[in-house]
Amino acid sequence: MARINPFAPNSPAPPGMFAGRLHQVDALEQSLMQTRAGRPKNFMLTGERGIGKTSLLQYFKWVAEGRIPIGGGTDKVNFLVVDLDIDSSTTDLGLIRRVELGLQRKFSEAERARSYIKICWEFLQRVEACGVSLNSKDTPIDPETLYDQFAYSLANTTSRLTDPDATSIFGAKYDGVLILIDEADNAPKSLRLGSFLKLLSERVGRAGCDHLMIGLAGMTTLREVLRDSHPSSLRIFDELPLDALSADEVNRVIDRALEVANEQNDDKTSIDDGGRQALTFLSEGYPHFIQQFGFSAFDTDKDLKIDRDDVFRGAFGAMGAMEKIGDRYYRDNFYNKIQKDSYRQVLRIMAANGDLWISKAHIRSKFRGKTTTLDNAIHALLRRKIILSKEGERGIYRLQHRGFGLWINLYTSDQQEIKTRMESGEFNIP
Ligand SMILES: Nc1ncnc2c1ncn2[C@@H]1O[C@H](COP(=O)(O)OP(=O)(O)O)[C@@H](O)[C@H]1O
Ligand SMILES: [Mg+2]
Repeated sequence: MARINPFAPNSPAPPGMFAGRLHQVDALEQSLMQTRAGRPKNFMLTGERGIGKTSLLQYFKWVAEGRIPIGGGTDKVNFLVVDLDIDSSTTDLGLIRRVELGLQRKFSEAERARSYIKICWEFLQRVEACGVSLNSKDTPIDPETLYDQFAYSLANTTSRLTDPDATSIFGAKYDGVLILIDEADNAPKSLRLGSFLKLLSERVGRAGCDHLMIGLAGMTTLREVLRDSHPSSLRIFDELPLDALSADEVNRVIDRALEVANEQNDDKTSIDDGGRQALTFLSEGYPHFIQQFGFSAFDTDKDLKIDRDDVFRGAFGAMGAMEKIGDRYYRDNFYNKIQKDSYRQVLRIMAANGDLWISKAHIRSKFRGKTTTLDNAIHALLRRKIILSKEGERGIYRLQHRGFGLWINLYTSDQQEIKTRMESGEFNIP
């Protein structure tokens, strides 16, 4: 009796499995209402890998498109959403094209809308007909002109979509246009993302359009990416940092997953208190840990009741959750990027403190080896941005990502010791 496993360790949580994040969803919904009322607001979600940025963006997309009502009530909005992500080779022209393609695709079936967009974005076809990369010297159009035309076309399209008689062309009147850009921290320097978006939103505003909203998501380094390209570009985005989920939210993730499983499978699965405690304890509220530990426990369980042993065997067994999480997120930083055992020793010492600041003196008191070896290890880890040094203070460090610290702690501890810690009620999340 193979059961469909509801946990989703390899993909963003589908909106039906999404749980928690009430504060952020509320803030995002407020911004939508503001934008609908002609006072547009932009936002950026920041947080480490696996914390749930893409999942929240997807959930929010459904809200913006009116597939989920605002605040769980009955009021729905109707935004046109274009979503895209950035990688290290993304260019300005590439970004502009994808926005146009996103719009074009929404109306692939509607003749009038399609031809409207085609005419409104005609400048792009002219640029592309020249077939010359914008970054080369003999470019047919200077970047400023291109950005101007992009802003103008986007403003026009948005104003038209939100016009009271938009229905005759687009089949509906929209509340605004929402552009979602995931993995924005990947933006190469040459894209100058901060300045690009700041100028875009200013130009769109000058063209009389006040219904465009831009949302970004990325690792915490996104702040620097934006700041480096334009110091005040940060100001146009409200930052919503994502942290680990609370114990209540973890429970909701588990409940939701089992509800989904029991809708899909004839054999009904439940979880007992020990299983729940183990999942909550091991994951420390990290969504990607919960999904993977949950997946492996569900797989390991044979009697339709997930208990503590299922969770532990699923987590620490061969090909278990710890290995999978390591492969997907952390092993590269623990083994491949650092070649020496001394580096790993430093990481283990630091991981015991999560991502809190810790002094070099403290590390040295636990480190077995020469001081020069320790110095080298710290420098190597700093250079690889695996650890950070505190601004303005010498010799104070912390791990860049708390999830990495959690994984190291679990990976390098004895299972029995973890169980003992858990049973002594040593919880790390509120
Ligand atoms: N709010 C949530 N509820 C349930 N699962 C979540 C939630 N947020 C994230 N997850 C799960 O955590 C993992 C990482 O999520 P993802 O959105 O891809 O993170 P990020 O984009 O920050 O790297 C996925 O397996 C996803 O299913
Ligand atoms: Mg993501």
